[in-house]
Amino acid sequence: MSEKKVDFLVIGSGIAGLSFALKAADHGKVLIVTKSNEDESNTKYAQGGVAAVVDKSDSFEQHIIDTQIAGDGLCDVNIVENVVREAPERINELISYGTSFDKSDSGFYDLAKEGGHSANRILHYKDITGYEIERSLLQKIHEHPNIEMLTHYFAIDLITQHHLGEFVDKQRSDIKCFGIYAFNTNTHQVDKILSKTTVMASGGAGHIYASTTNPTIATGDGIAMVYRAKGKVRNMEFMQFHPTALYNPSDSPAFLVSEAVRGFGGILRRINGDDFMAEYDERASLAPRDIVARAIDAEMKKSGIDYVYLDITHREKEDIIKHFPNIYEKCLSIGLDMSKDFIPVTPAAHYLCGGIYVDDFGRSSIQNLYACGECSSTGLHGANRLASNSLLEALVYAHRIYLDATKVISTADYAVGVPEWDDSKAKLSNEDILVTHNLRECQKVMSDYVGIVRSDFRLERALNRLHLLYGETEDFYRHTKLSVKLCELRNVIQVAFIVTKSALLRKESRGLHFTTDYPQHADTLTDTLF
Ligand code: FAD
Ligand code: SIN
Repeated sequence: MSEKKVDFLVIGSGIAGLSFALKAADHGKVLIVTKSNEDESNTKYAQGGVAAVVDKSDSFEQHIIDTQIAGDGLCDVNIVENVVREAPERINELISYGTSFDKSDSGFYDLAKEGGHSANRILHYKDITGYEIERSLLQKIHEHPNIEMLTHYFAIDLITQHHLGEFVDKQRSDIKCFGIYAFNTNTHQVDKILSKTTVMASGGAGHIYASTTNPTIATGDGIAMVYRAKGKVRNMEFMQFHPTALYNPSDSPAFLVSEAVRGFGGILRRINGDDFMAEYDERASLAPRDIVARAIDAEMKKSGIDYVYLDITHREKEDIIKHFPNIYEKCLSIGLDMSKDFIPVTPAAHYLCGGIYVDDFGRSSIQNLYACGECSSTGLHGANRLASNSLLEALVYAHRIYLDATKVISTADYAVGVPEWDDSKAKLSNEDILVTHNLRECQKVMSDYVGIVRSDFRLERALNRLHLLYGETEDFYRHTKLSVKLCELRNVIQVAFIVTKSALLRKESRGLHFTTDYPQHADTLTDTLF
């Protein structure tokens, strides 16, 4: 067992964690813990790009309106204003770190279009924008002497007054984060990391569903940790299903076919070749994601076939390969030439719009704890995130958290008397298969009953099953030596539970939450807080 002390503790090495770490490192020692390889993250797989107003013919006002329309009335207007207006400065910073964005023949950025955007405003690097961002940020991180990174290090739980023997419940407004307990997968020991400031940047939770575009790290760990520590989480019912994951049942995670393909002229078609989106929305294939995913879901239910087609065959092969080399190669690997063949696509869980409740400087309801990126709920996305606003949100909030955290760090101190992790009564498991079974069961429950179209009956059904899985898993966790898989299962079930309960509480349909029992908007706007 070991104890570490750091000024700034960052959990996660995606765009949120890395961009904060780079800034904070000029003001103190930074430790990044990350549970897999240093680059493994949702960030690495981002395709479409980053939305920002950089073209003179575009306007902040228009980006603000587009974000609010996609968010279906639930966005926080002030937050949308902040993020959109601060975007160009953050993009310039990213470029100064060495990130490349594609340019057109004119020498200006080749701005792409995606669903819900009224202008071409997506900066991208081919169709592997996230890979390029992650590459450049990691390079800068390695150059900084004040930053240490521990890979294959799994954050288990936040340390709060609870660990000092005090009673902590949701009513307390003075809960403090003193650091984390983390599982070192090399030594199989749980280490204690004490920090003056902690930034949760642990990403999303796609793996609460059976089919997702997210890599396997996306198990909602940070959200579950904050919930267990009695911090607030918000609007968790809004899981975004991306309309166009490649239909290839042997792929897990599902491979994404970027919305930028539709921005490039891609048309969604029925199995018989009919173009159907105009029957659902005047913006057709470029309507916001909630609308397109629901339309595809309806078409799949009508036809009984698990996919629809995406057709980009009318564009020149050379242009397709230039813009989408990664998608082109992937399709080719399963025998499809997207310049000649329709691409079979199906919706998959993609992005969690809710998360750890934070204010306009990323401060969570727990003192000394910030949250940034996909694990947070800032108010930007409302009931449905506008495409390519996620990477942007992480950049803007990493900066805002840096401004706040570096101000308060001089008065912060380490906690004393925090006990070591005690697992003396836990036994080694010879039944790890139970973890796999419960994970699959949870993911199936979520996909079957808490998907794109919901009802109270289905949600209650899910909740009953999740109760059982929760009880079994907590019992197993209490008596068994830790493993990453077991900790992840515990987090997945906890997050699935909150998503389902939040969905039951929302007695209306809004954005990504559509229920046949309440198909309209309610008269009043509410957030779901846990
Ligand atoms: P992540 O990048 O997911 O990083 C989370 C980090 O936390 C990882 O390093 C992970 O290992 C670590 N971690 C998690 N739990 C623990 C733990 N318990 N202990 C230690 N470490 C932990 N958004 C856009 O704006 N534009 C796009 O074009 C776009 N395309 C996308 C394409 C795909 C296929 C996917 C999956 C997402 C896409 N998104 C896109 C969404 C966007 O990529 C993510 O929302 C964003 O990258 C999240 O960044 P993050 O830093 O918050 O989290
Ligand atoms: C995509 O490229 O379609 C993903 C964009 C996003 O999730 O914002």
